[in-house]
Amino acid sequence: MNHSEVLQAVPSNSDAQRSPVLKRLAQRFPADFVWGVATSAYQIEGAAREDGRADSIWDEFCRRPGAIRDGSNGERACDHYHRFEADLDLVANLGITSYRFSISWPRVQPLGRGAWNEPGFAFYERLLAGLQRRGIAAHITLYHWDLPLALQTQGGWANRATVEAFRDYAVEVGRRFGDRAASIATHNEPWVVAILGHELGTFAPGEKSRRVAMQVAHHLLLSHGMAVQALRSAGCKAPLGIVLNQAPIYPATDSESDRSKARLEDGLLVRWYMDPLLFGRYPEDVLAHLGDDAPSVADGDLDIIHQPLDFLGINYYTRNIAVTGQEKTDSWPSRPVTDMGWEVFPGGLSELLSRLHRDYPLPPIYIMENGAAYKDHPVGGRVVDLERISYLESHIGALADAIEQGVEVHGYFVWSLLDNFEWADGYSKRFGIIYVDYQTERRIVKDSGHWYRDFLRSR
Ligand code: FCB
Repeated sequence: MNHSEVLQAVPSNSDAQRSPVLKRLAQRFPADFVWGVATSAYQIEGAAREDGRADSIWDEFCRRPGAIRDGSNGERACDHYHRFEADLDLVANLGITSYRFSISWPRVQPLGRGAWNEPGFAFYERLLAGLQRRGIAAHITLYHWDLPLALQTQGGWANRATVEAFRDYAVEVGRRFGDRAASIATHNEPWVVAILGHELGTFAPGEKSRRVAMQVAHHLLLSHGMAVQALRSAGCKAPLGIVLNQAPIYPATDSESDRSKARLEDGLLVRWYMDPLLFGRYPEDVLAHLGDDAPSVADGDLDIIHQPLDFLGINYYTRNIAVTGQEKTDSWPSRPVTDMGWEVFPGGLSELLSRLHRDYPLPPIYIMENGAAYKDHPVGGRVVDLERISYLESHIGALADAIEQGVEVHGYFVWSLLDNFEWADGYSKRFGIIYVDYQTERRIVKDSGHWYRDFLRSR
């Protein structure tokens, strides 16, 4: 499809505003439902060497030849550190009233233990004040993957001492910001940190050991539990939770091997995190499968992990398919994929949520990330991203289905506010509802941004 065709196909904003379709979709959600956008520190802030920030494991990882697809890094990123006021204006102008962001640990505590860096905290003070002035609720993530490099040189998450360091950092953030946060999540996607960071090595810190990865996964969960305990006993008022990436996993065929692979992958992705958090135990089948790679777990660890959660964050992008055979099966018709190569499968969101609702005593759920990368280009000052609009609309519809099936969902955040540093893909993947020209740092609200505004207005 060329761009002139797209331009004709997209409804003008005023049409969209009146659209009964949007209104019907919006009416499927409770009036107090939280609608937001999400970002993370390393992906947008830049200012990597300013005001006393020290390196994180991602700064170091980006320096390794070949680690990042386009050889880039987050040193400048969206320069949000300097442009956050204008960025918050964009959020406010879109009528978005909740903002999820993460705090860069090496910005506020450069060595990961010991001295606090006041100029670093001052940035988040300014950000919180800016949000408050605009009536935007602040949803804080403590750890979105940027471990202070100084801690990595002492073993990082594989070292149990990092668990206590994280707890102390969490308590300090809670002490300063707890009264102004609509929520505090300890971790974002521990599966990614453990598996991509320590087993596959495609993300920082680039380790390649399953044993280390599973020990890291355990330490991340333990640090979550310790932080929640400590924040509560320090009187932190913000609702506390954790954010997990999840997907339903389908066997490619009905064969016994595909079905047992799907079950195991579900164990490694979903149950490995959900069972300890909600039941205080690891899944037996996964422990048996791991054998010697299973983590060492001290007495009492599982009780610490098993803290009451005020909320559970879920990030959903696509489903997974478990294949053991070589042959491509006919049972999976080819469906549209995003620029990440991820299948667009909104039904997976409602299915995942209903399954979790059936299998676990869930706290209120927030979809903390959902969105899609596409090859966006500005044409005449406009970015026509119809595919992203359709992705968002269909996933929000699937979320409404889940709510109607009885799942208690309190909020939804689009990933992402801005195009940004997409980890090992560098700047080659654009997830924003706002386009960023990295040469000039100019922002252009994409049509999906206007669509989200119209959707929110139609409530
Ligand atoms: C999630 C991450 C987020 C972003 C999206 C596309 O796994 O939490 O930072 O990279 O994927």
